[in-house]
Amino acid sequence: MVYKIVKYGDPVLEKPCDAVEDTEFGSSELREFAEDMFETMYSAKGVGLAAPQVGVSKRLTVIDCSVGEDPEQKLVLINPEITLKEGSQVGEEGCLSIPGFREDVERAKKATIRAWNLDGESIEVTGEDLLARAMQHELDHLNGILFLSHLSPLKRDLIRRKIKKMIKAGEW
Ligand code: NI
Repeated sequence: MVYKIVKYGDPVLEKPCDAVEDTEFGSSELREFAEDMFETMYSAKGVGLAAPQVGVSKRLTVIDCSVGEDPEQKLVLINPEITLKEGSQVGEEGCLSIPGFREDVERAKKATIRAWNLDGESIEVTGEDLLARAMQHELDHLNGILFLSHLSPLKRDLIRRKIKKMIKAGEW
């Protein structure tokens, strides 16, 4: 099932998500939800999608830097925490919830995440470059933070104003 992706302006995108409960791990509901998240992300040609982007305020995100080409790159990160950040990289970043806007964002070049998989097993993932960027972007979503927060106030306000205009005009 492909979800409708929630766009900037919806409060669900700007509030911290709730942890996935112990009782949900291993359930067919959670597994199905993750599969639907992948399907939704692939249909939008994204490399990452966080649960609040489909209106579900839970600490779960899916990432696949191969955009469906390599099953080994599929990642489901549940209740993730960043345990290590190293170096820095500046690169263009976008968000499926803020379509049409891409800006340079500074992120750590390398990041290590500790999370749980769908079976409730502890996993550790270290990524560099695009994977590190995607993990940091998606973890931000789980804390109600959008990439706009990493821009200069000037750029951020400009984009916000443009989006507000689009919302008013019914074009968002
Ligand atoms: Ni995003």
